[in-house]
Order: sequence, then C-alpha cells, then structure tokens
Amino acid sequence: MRIAINGLGRIGRKVVKNIFDTPSLDLVAINDIMPIDKAVYFLKYDSTYGLSALTISFQENYIIINSKKILYTSHENIIDMPWKELNIDLAINCSGTNKTKPQLKEYLSLGVKKVILSSPPDTDDIPIIIRGYNDNLYASSQIISNASCTTYCVAPILDIFHRNFGIQFANFTTVHCYTADQNLQDAFHIDFRRSRAAGVNIIPTTTSATKVIRNIFPELKDKVTGSSFRVPVINGSITEFIIELNNLPSQPELINIIKLESQTKYNGIIDLTMDKIVSTDVINCPLAALIDEHSIELLGNKVKLTAFYDNEAGYSNQLVQLILNH
Ligand SMILES: NC(=O)c1ccc[n+]([C@@H]2O[C@H](COP(=O)([O-])OP(=O)(O)OC[C@H]3O[C@@H](n4cnc5c(N)ncnc54)[C@H](O)[C@@H]3O)[C@@H](O)[C@H]2O)c1
Repeated sequence: MRIAINGLGRIGRKVVKNIFDTPSLDLVAINDIMPIDKAVYFLKYDSTYGLSALTISFQENYIIINSKKILYTSHENIIDMPWKELNIDLAINCSGTNKTKPQLKEYLSLGVKKVILSSPPDTDDIPIIIRGYNDNLYASSQIISNASCTTYCVAPILDIFHRNFGIQFANFTTVHCYTADQNLQDAFHIDFRRSRAAGVNIIPTTTSATKVIRNIFPELKDKVTGSSFRVPVINGSITEFIIELNNLPSQPELINIIKLESQTKYNGIIDLTMDKIVSTDVINCPLAALIDEHSIELLGNKVKLTAFYDNEAGYSNQLVQLILNH
C-alpha cells in the first residue's frame, strides 16, 4: 500500500516510524510546511522517545530512511502537492489543519484513494472510527477520522461496560500531558486557558472526546460527560472513569469480563495491568488504554477505574493497525 503523510509533527513522525516497522506499507511522500532539514532533525532526535533507530538523511527533496527515498514537499495547501503521479492509495492528514470534508476531498483530486484524518473532524459528515468498536465502517467512506487519543482510550471501555452491564451515566476525566497546541509561556491563544504556560500549570480544558463519544454512542448521548486537565508532563496520560451501571457485577466478574474483552474484541487495543505503574511507564505503549487493575472500585451501582495511555504512540499505532486490518 502506497502511503503519503501530510503533517510531520508528533503524530506524523510516530506514524512514519510505525510504517517502517510494517513491511507491507510503503511510505512514498511526506509533506509539511517546515523545511526538509528540520523534518529530518525531528525524525532523528526526539525528547520523548530518544534517538531514532532508523537511518535518516536527506538529498535534495527526498528524505532517505533506511535507504528508502521518500518525496518531501512543503506546501500549505493540499491542492498544490505534486502527488498526482505517485499513485497514492492512502493519505494520512496529521497536520492539525484541513479537518472538513471539502478540504480533505482535495486529496481525492490528487488521485488518492483513501484519506485518514488523525483527529476528530470539524464537521459531522466524516465517519469516526475506533478499532474493535466500529471499524466495520472503514470501507463506508473514502474519508474517515481516526478519532482522538482520548476517545480511543474511552470508547472501548464504555463499550465493554455498556454491552455487558448497561450504562446509566458515565463521567470521564482525562489528565493529559501538554501538547503543541498550548503555550510555553503565557501568550495569546484563541483559548484562554491554553494560552497559559504549559510547564507550570494544571490547566482545565475541554476534550473533543466528549462530543465524539456522544456521536459514536448515540444511545449514550445524554448519559456521558467528560473533561480534561492538561498537566506539565511531556507525554503519557491517564483517564479516570466513574460509571453508573444498570447491573453491577462482582469485582472478580468485572475483571474477568475486561480480561476476556482484551483478548478478543479489543485484543491489542486495551489491556489490564496489576503493576503499580505511573505515566512514564506507558511511554511507547502501543495500546489505546492500559487499565490499572488496582484502580477498579465498586460502590453501589457505580464503578470507578483509571486507564493509562501514551497519547502519541498508542494513538499512532492504532491508526496503523486500522490500515493493516482493512
Ligand atoms: N499529540 C497528541 O497527543 C495527539 C494525539 C491524537 C491526535 N492528535 C491530533 O493530530 C493532529 C496533529 O497533532 P500533533 O500533536 O502531531 O501536532 P504537531 O503540532 O506536533 O504537528 C503538526 C505538524 O503539521 C505541520 N503543519 C501545520 N500546518 C500545516 C499545513 N497547512 N500543511 C502541512 N503541514 C502543516 C506542522 O509544521 C507540524 O509539523 C492534531 O489534529 C491533533 O489533534 C494529536
């Protein structure tokens, strides 16, 4: 499969590395507004994941990774990308821009056959897909969204609880590392709180996951709420859930069901750990959610639990697994 990536930031670079771990996927083009020498620098050196194991250099307008030449361009607008001759099967839009259907359709006019957006779309006309939950919709549209990292952590867990016990109400709170969409120092940002210095604040903010969860679980539309705190951590996040159920199982029954789901429907997507981990322990974890077994607490008809996730590596791996499995 011939793949192109637009946007070589945190997610784009992790997707590149996942593609190079997967021989059946062929990366033929990358576009980002930054110059090629900066792109190569960021592919090589990473403050979270360390020095890349890949051999990376560039020559003219090609990035060379492990001897493989990849066309590199720097266009702001999709329509200007010289991809027409490249016979691209799949474009992955990781630029944080171009999140509407008309914008993403421009890839199709370059001959691209399928487009995946690495975030929730700005409009409601693009299917949002979570592996295991609704990836039967993969073929339903040429343009799809891979949801968000927090949605990927939340959706499988809500699905497991809803199918097995029935959800009356659910609240999730994600304690999320900072991202490039925040400021290092207090400085103008369209969002008041994201304008504040990310390295020294606990920043209450919204999460797109709430809207997406209501969208992909229509029957829970009035029963789910969620919020987020951005914290001064470079990577690794955790979501706490409080869920009110129709039928409450015993603790061992609940753990058995989660274990079974993690080995079947959500194999490679969620798991449970008995280790007393902290957020840096999930850095590079390929899962969408790693449930802390110690956190599971039952009270009346309510259950409380937490799940860790590497918001970059977990999300990017799920995106590449989605491609591989369809
Ligand atoms: N960081 C995360 O944890 C995370 C997780 C899941 C999804 N996402 C989503 O993925 C997208 C990218 O996030 P990120 O954290 O990688 O951001 P980032 O800022 O690290 O990367 C964005 C990249 O896109 C490039 N870019 C900006 N405008 C462009 C344009 N018009 N054309 C081409 N390239 C352009 C930038 O130069 C940058 O390299 C966002 O929509 C974000 O919501 C991020």
